[in-house]
Amino acid sequence: MSLSMDEGVDYTAYRRFFLFKTVIPAFVFPTVTVAFLARLLFHNTLSWPATILLQIASVPLWNTIRSTYSDFRHTQEAKRLGAVEPPKVVGKWPGNIDIMLAMFKSAKTKYFHDYIDTLFEEHSSHTVNTRLLWGNQIWTRDEGVVKYVLATGFEKFGKGQRIKMNMETFLGSGIFNRDGDTWRSHRAMARPFFAKERISDFEYFEEHAAHTLSVLRGVGDSAVDVQDLFARFTLDTASSFLFGSNIDTLSLPLPKAGEAVMGPKGSAIEGEFGEFASAFESAQQVIIERSRFGVAWPVVELFGDRTLQYVQAIRNFLDPMVKRALDEKQKAKAAGIEKHAEDTNFLDYLATNTDDPEMIRFELLNILLASRDTTACLLTYTIYLLAQYPEVLARVREEALNACPPGQVPTYESLRHLKYMRAVLNETLRLFPPVPGNGRASVGVASAIPPSPASPDQRPIYVPPYTGVIYSPLLLHRRKDLWGPDADEFDPDRWIDKRVDRMVKNPLMFVPFNAGPRICLGQQFALNEASFFLVRLFQEYDRFELTPEYQPAGSIPPDSWKTEGRGRAKIEKVWPASALTLYVKGGLWVRFGRAAA
Ligand code: HEM
Ligand SMILES: *[C@@H]1O[C@H](CO)[C@@H](O)[C@H](O)[C@H]1NC(C)=O
Repeated sequence: MSLSMDEGVDYTAYRRFFLFKTVIPAFVFPTVTVAFLARLLFHNTLSWPATILLQIASVPLWNTIRSTYSDFRHTQEAKRLGAVEPPKVVGKWPGNIDIMLAMFKSAKTKYFHDYIDTLFEEHSSHTVNTRLLWGNQIWTRDEGVVKYVLATGFEKFGKGQRIKMNMETFLGSGIFNRDGDTWRSHRAMARPFFAKERISDFEYFEEHAAHTLSVLRGVGDSAVDVQDLFARFTLDTASSFLFGSNIDTLSLPLPKAGEAVMGPKGSAIEGEFGEFASAFESAQQVIIERSRFGVAWPVVELFGDRTLQYVQAIRNFLDPMVKRALDEKQKAKAAGIEKHAEDTNFLDYLATNTDDPEMIRFELLNILLASRDTTACLLTYTIYLLAQYPEVLARVREEALNACPPGQVPTYESLRHLKYMRAVLNETLRLFPPVPGNGRASVGVASAIPPSPASPDQRPIYVPPYTGVIYSPLLLHRRKDLWGPDADEFDPDRWIDKRVDRMVKNPLMFVPFNAGPRICLGQQFALNEASFFLVRLFQEYDRFELTPEYQPAGSIPPDSWKTEGRGRAKIEKVWPASALTLYVKGGLWVRFGRAAA
């Protein structure tokens, strides 16, 4: 591909170019050719309905020919490399359209990634090629493939043009949305900010955790949607440490127990979130809808980019702050004052590194996106699990209170030794990884991926060039051959007793924070934030109770999951769903019981 977005080409032009590159050879070429041939061969004697029928038929026919030819070449190439191709899913309809429809249907009605899980089972393979619309699309829960794509074969895979195109106006040149040298320079710039000294300062956590607990006190014996509450806690915390200013969503009215209706994710929120916060959420929503349309979304937005209005609102909020930070830097420089990077927020830190306001704005947005829903998800599912395992709650609470009795503010030192707390968080991240599905695309070279020791076939696995590889941390984290027959159960002790050896020998079987050169920069920050909040919560509360009676209609798993469901579907009390990050459908309604003083 000659156009690359890393070189700053006009994004709209790129979007159209990409569309034409997909649509013309697949649809326009065969239909136009048929029209032309009909004229040439039948001299206008063919009726127009007959011509249209022929044109419709030409699409699958032509694409089957095209894909058969390219399959043949890939098979030759795989042989040459001594590799096997992952099993190809063979549907009933051309282009595996029936498989695609079944996937959509399953995503609406069944457990998360259930359909792809059945494909792995049916093909007795941890990697399959779904062959949607005649193209290669590889899905995997094989830790060997994940290791290669993220780490050992890092140079051969990138985020891919499709993901970049989807996110471009929203995330721009930020760290999330670039490969190669541009990404490398962003990473180098951001990394020092996450150094241990800086992230061991818990002032921000304390301010917003205290606010969250005061909100909880106001809820009293009623129930609260903790998913909504934690989204506010993590957003306010992130805004403080990123921009140095509190968006203060915790002060806005909460959804009320028993009155909540289903919003796009959890329960819909009444009242106005700040303009910035709601624009940020809406832009994310557009990104998610685009990913549902697959390659076809540029058709829907051919004449207008749906993120632009939100991007404008985001700019209205951020640009004055960015300008102020850059001005202050100039003033300090003129006065001969050197600012110390340690005592700044991320915005000021970035301003000491660059004069480019656009770069600063995009970097702030990227890190806000990375930090917020992920950490809220970890906290939400931790509460979900602790509510069902009172003995685990009692144990983790006791450990926390020994290190940090009520009234005392947790410190870096006091959190560092909470071993069981870390096991609880690891076990939650295993069963409910906040990024439950993720992907990369191969660049212009084919790969022969070395098989993992656990792989049934010990030959390398072939991946063609320019091919999407989607991996499911959620399914990988629940594989019984890796984790044992009790893989579906919540058991933090597996991180402490001898079962942990499996993990030590095969670390890529656990990838909630990704792996390799692009591993999450905020891992320690997130674990600190979550542990900090939980210790504060344990200091005041000792009983957590799920309140299904308050879940909005349509958010409780259907009865069929208990009887026909597989794996955790049989036992799940809530409906895990994903919108880039994992969440609980309808929110997670919980009642907290205060500990006796
Ligand atoms: C439990 C919480 C979190 C989880 C599970 C998590 C998970 C992840 C994952 C899976 C990725 C890889 C995304 C990809 O490249 O495909 C990632 C990247 C990243 N995360 Fe996190 N994250 C969490 C919290 C945070 C926080 C709190 C921050 C910042 C304060 C953060 C900053 C980043 C950044 C900057 C990247 C991009 C790294 C790069 O591309 O080089 N994350 N995270
Ligand atoms: C938690 O998981 C990490 C890997 O992400 C591992 O290094 C650590 O030892 C685990 N800790 C505990 C206590 O489970």
